[in-house]
Amino acid sequence: MNEQQRLQGQLANSSGNSSDKKSEKDYSKYFESVFMPPSLKEAKKRGKEEVSYHSDFSIDEQFKGMGEGRKFYIRTYGCQMNEHDTEVMAGIFLALGYEPTDTVDDADVILLNTCAIRENAENKVFGELGHLKTLKKNRPDLLLGVCGCMSQEESVVNKIMKTYNQVDMIFGTHNIHRLPHILNEAYLSKEMVIEVWSKEGDVVENLPKVRNGKIKAWVNIMYGCDKFCTYCIVPYTRGKERSRRPEEIIQEVRHLAAQGYKEVTLLGQNVNAYGKDFEDINYRLGDLMDDIRTIDIPRIRFTTSHPRDFDDHLIEVLAKKGNLMDHIHLPVQSGSTDVLKIMARKYTREQYLELVRKIKAAIPGATLTTDIIVGYPNETDEQFEETMSLYREVGFDAAYTFIYSPREGTPAAKMVDNVPMEVKKERLQRLNALVNEMSAEAMMSYKGQIVDVLVEGESKKNPDILAGYTNKSKLVNFKGPKSAIGQIVKVKITDAKTWSLNGEVIEEHEMAEVK
Ligand code: SAH
Ligand code: SF4
Ligand code: F3S
Repeated sequence: MNEQQRLQGQLANSSGNSSDKKSEKDYSKYFESVFMPPSLKEAKKRGKEEVSYHSDFSIDEQFKGMGEGRKFYIRTYGCQMNEHDTEVMAGIFLALGYEPTDTVDDADVILLNTCAIRENAENKVFGELGHLKTLKKNRPDLLLGVCGCMSQEESVVNKIMKTYNQVDMIFGTHNIHRLPHILNEAYLSKEMVIEVWSKEGDVVENLPKVRNGKIKAWVNIMYGCDKFCTYCIVPYTRGKERSRRPEEIIQEVRHLAAQGYKEVTLLGQNVNAYGKDFEDINYRLGDLMDDIRTIDIPRIRFTTSHPRDFDDHLIEVLAKKGNLMDHIHLPVQSGSTDVLKIMARKYTREQYLELVRKIKAAIPGATLTTDIIVGYPNETDEQFEETMSLYREVGFDAAYTFIYSPREGTPAAKMVDNVPMEVKKERLQRLNALVNEMSAEAMMSYKGQIVDVLVEGESKKNPDILAGYTNKSKLVNFKGPKSAIGQIVKVKITDAKTWSLNGEVIEEHEMAEVK
């Protein structure tokens, strides 16, 4: 589909529905400029169209120099995918001639790259939009934009149009490469510029990027999600599953290795579905990891895994270890087969435990972490206890835990829920106590051990202390020379806390040359 056809299709979708006459009338003034609001209904569709790959991104002549004398600021909420999208947008801003700034007060363009995963994530953004109102009032030339996952929701776009008219532009997760056009429109137009594509089947390559750091880098391997877990908004905000071609990914990782990066995280909402959409080749995540592990880069990992597609070949490849990190984040969500069924996770408690058994057998010492939702609609005490017992049984090292948050447009949001909020909060507290207890236990086992630490920089609390991560993703704080930053050094663990380790350097890797 070319851009023109897509624009026409989307306009037809947003205005062709006769039950939508009112909104068509209300919004008519916006058609003078760009007006392409999102539609969750469209976003839900999964068509048969093939994925189109575009590798011809370039900055249009007419936009070059648009940012001269201007500064941009991007605030990022949400997951690594969003962090990485911010790196791409920063790359586009620089290519347009803008300069970065780290304070909103100097910025000529402010973007909020938003997350829609839970209600409190959205509330933070609305709060921030409120704060920025005064800034915008004092500096009318300032451009204020909202992008990321919240932009893909029509309820959010409607709310911004009604209540936050200080916003100049809204664009979606599929429109990032259109940033130069959107900025241009926003400078020219008096109306709010809205361009959100709801249905996306494309992969855009060759986008510029400004990576946030020189030690660790993110590489997208696929976009979107087709799992439609009943509580989750991501399949609607990120579109259908589509994989980048292996050669593009491998080339990007090689390039990062050549630039001296020490760790690469392969990113996708459900990386285990990688390659499912290829029609011409039989190439899945196991194959990709097997190819990437031969690249000369010290650490490779991936996130996030879905238990359902975690196949034996991938386990076999991960067992080769080397630069493949032996920490696997494997969200379970619940320990109850009945709740998992209502969540549409498509595995049972037993199947999850069997997968864990296989991983542990093949990769001894691998650490596992997870995501858990408590207080799913109608979750019983017994079902919650099953989550607690599964947590112990697996022996997770850590977990992100959440109270279920209804997301408009998802099937779970329509479920009647008989669990009071106090009960949900109490369950979360009990689970968190277990998570802390088991994390502290796991940390204690490191006392006296020597671990490899990739040093990321000074500790946030004390500049005399360095901080970094082991290859099992444990945070280590230790005394060491600043020249160790960016290197992998051996550290002896002297003390363990619940969420971090303390230690001292015992070998100064490669540092002699630096001195
Ligand atoms: N793609 C990843 C998860 C992305 S969202 C996966 O499938 O594992 C990160 C986590 O947020 C999820 O694992 C889930 O635990 C949590 N989450 C998602 N939707 C939620 C909701 N509506 N309420 C509470 N937590 C939610
Ligand atoms: Fe959401 Fe489920 Fe997809 Fe993860 S796999 S992004 S939880 S729908
Ligand atoms: Fe949030 Fe979107 Fe990521 S909803 S978690 S920013 S994919």
